[in-house]
Amino acid sequence: MALQLLILALSVSTSFAQSQGSTHEGCIHLPIVHSTNQQAFGKRAVQFSLANRSDVAYYAKRRPNPPFGRARKEKVELGTPPQPQFVQLDTGSFELWVNPTCSTAGSFGDAGFCSSVGNFDTAKSSTFQSIGTTKSLRYGIGSANITYVKDDIALPGSSSILKAVQFGVATATEDEFSGILGIGYGLGLTTRYRNFVDELAAQNVTRVKAFTLALGGKDEQEGVIVFGGVDTSKFAGRLARLPIIPAAQSPDGVPRYWVAMQSMTLTPPSLRRKTYSNSTMPVFLDSGSTLTLLPTALVAAVAADFGATTQDSSGFYSVDCALTKVNGTLDFAFEGVTVRVPYKEIIRQSGNQCVLGIMPNPDFVLLGDTFLRSAYVIFDLDNHAVWMTQYTNCGSSPAAVNDSKAFPSLIGTCNLQKAAVNDAASSSSVSTGTPTTVSTGGAAGGAASPSRSSTVSAAGTVTPRRQASIFALAIVVAVGVVS
Ligand SMILES: *[C@@H]1O[C@H](CO)[C@@H](O)[C@H](O)[C@H]1NC(C)=O
Ligand SMILES: *[C@@H]1O[C@H](CO)[C@@H](O)[C@H](O)[C@H]1NC(C)=O
Ligand SMILES: *[C@@H]1O[C@H](CO)[C@@H](O)[C@H](O)[C@H]1NC(C)=O
Ligand SMILES: *[C@@H]1O[C@H](CO)[C@@H](O)[C@H](O)[C@H]1NC(C)=O
Ligand SMILES: *[C@@H]1O[C@H](CO)[C@@H](O)[C@H](O)[C@H]1NC(C)=O
Ligand SMILES: *[C@@H]1O[C@H](CO)[C@@H](O)[C@H](O)[C@H]1NC(C)=O
Repeated sequence: MALQLLILALSVSTSFAQSQGSTHEGCIHLPIVHSTNQQAFGKRAVQFSLANRSDVAYYAKRRPNPPFGRARKEKVELGTPPQPQFVQLDTGSFELWVNPTCSTAGSFGDAGFCSSVGNFDTAKSSTFQSIGTTKSLRYGIGSANITYVKDDIALPGSSSILKAVQFGVATATEDEFSGILGIGYGLGLTTRYRNFVDELAAQNVTRVKAFTLALGGKDEQEGVIVFGGVDTSKFAGRLARLPIIPAAQSPDGVPRYWVAMQSMTLTPPSLRRKTYSNSTMPVFLDSGSTLTLLPTALVAAVAADFGATTQDSSGFYSVDCALTKVNGTLDFAFEGVTVRVPYKEIIRQSGNQCVLGIMPNPDFVLLGDTFLRSAYVIFDLDNHAVWMTQYTNCGSSPAAVNDSKAFPSLIGTCNLQKAAVNDAASSSSVSTGTPTTVSTGGAAGGAASPSRSSTVSAAGTVTPRRQASIFALAIVVAVGVVS
C-alpha cells in the first residue's frame, strides 16, 4: 500500500466520536494532535519533549477506526502497510517529506519523540515510484536532504486515495524530529510539482483549493484541519476576508500567507486598553512556528507590560506564571476582525517556567502557534485570501465547501458572546470581570493594583534548555523554485 499521512488524535474527544465513521465527500477533516498529547505519543516521548522542547508543535495522523482500543495497536504497527506517519502541519513551507534522522534530531528527548512519529518504508509499498531527484530544504531551524518519490496517500474519513503524489523521503536531516507537511502555496509559485494541497484539488478530493485550520487551545490538546471545507462549530458569526499580500509586495518576496495587521492592543483585566505603537505591519501566518516573531521594539514594549524587561540568554522574556490565570488578552487587529489571544495562550509554560510566546526577530515577522491557537482561519488559495475570526469550540460539524464563492456567507454557529469581538462593536459593553489579585506583570496585570512592580519578572529564572530550538521550527528561509 501506501504512505498514510494522517492527522489524528488518539485521545478521542466527543467531537471525534460523533463524526467518526462518517465521510464527507468534498472534504477531508483530520484531527490535529498537539505534541504534548501523551496518548498519541506515549508518556515518555512527551515528557522529554515538554522539558526540553516545544509544548506546542502540531502533528498530523490518521483517525483510528474504531477510536478506542485499536488506536494503540496501530501505533505499534508503524512501518507496515498502511504506514501512518505523524507530520508537522506547516503553513509556512511548501513541501511534504517524511523520515527524519532521529540521531540528529537534537537532544535525547527530541530523538525519543522522533522515534514515535513513524518511518516510511518504501520497500513495503507496492505503489511506490522512484523519481530520484534530490533537494536540500532549509528551515528556520534544521534542514532536510530529501529524495523525491511518488506514492499514494490514503485519506482517513474518505474513500479517496490520492494517487501518485510527489513528496520527499529524507536521506539525512539535522535538527528535525518529525517530517513536515508543508501546506503553503505549491505548483507554479514555490514548486514545479503539485504539492499536497494542489493534489487534493487536482484529484477532485476537494472542490476548492482551500483548507481551514483550528489548532485548538492548550487545554484541548487537539484541533482540526479541514481540507476543502470548514467546521462551522469552531467559530461564531461571519469571517473577515483578508487579502493575501502578493509575493512581489511582501516583505520577503516569497509567496506566503502574508496579511496586513492593523494593530496590537493589550486588554488587561482593568479594561484599560493600550494600543502599541508601530504595530501596523504585514505578518504571515505560520503554524510551523511555535512562537510569534515580531520586531524588537514592539516585543520589548509588550514584554514590559507583562513585567519582563530583560531577555534571558536564549532571548526569551520570562514572565510570571501567575499571569496565565489572569483574564486579559493580547489583541491582534486586522481589517474587519480582532483576534483576542488570552494571556494563557500567549505565554509558554514549561514546568514552573513561563516565557512570553513572542520573540524579537530581525528577519521574520510572523504569527505562530501562540497566535493561531486563538484564531479560526480559512486559507483560500483560489481567491488568494485568508478568512479569519476568533476560534471557539462548540462541537464538530466539518463540511465541504463546493464553491469558493461561498466563503463570505459562511456563518459560525457558536455563541458570539463567548467569542471574538468583531471590531469595535462590543468593546464598551464588555463587563469588567472580577479584579484579579495577581500583583505582577506590569500593565498586563491590570492597572488596578498599584503594588505590582517589576520585582518578580525575570528574577531567579533558570534558562530553559535548548530553548533556541523550540521556535521557528519550520520557517523556510530560502525558497528554491526547484523540484
Ligand atoms: C532534558 O531536560 C531535562 C530537564 O530539564 C534534563 O534533565 C535533561 O538533561 C535534558 N535532556 C537533554 C538531552 O537535554
Ligand atoms: C545535505 O546535503 C548538503 C549538500 O550535499 C550537505 O552539505 C549537508 O551536510 C547535507 N545535510 C545533512 C543534514 O546531511
Ligand atoms: C476532476 O474534475 C474535473 C471537472 O469535473 C475533470 O475534468 C477532471 O478530469 C477530474 N479529475 C480527476 C483526476 O478525476
Ligand atoms: C516607531 O517607529 C518610528 C520609525 O521607525 C520610530 O521613530 C519610533 O521611535 C517608533 N516608536 C516606538 C514607540 O517604538
Ligand atoms: C455540495 O455538493 C454536494 C454534492 O454535490 C451536495 O450534497 C451538498 O449539499 C453541497 N453543499 C452545499 C453547501 O451546497
Ligand atoms: C474576562 O474579561 C472579559 C472582558 O474582557 C469579561 O467579559 C469576562 O466575563 C471575564 N471573565 C472572567 C472569568 O472574569
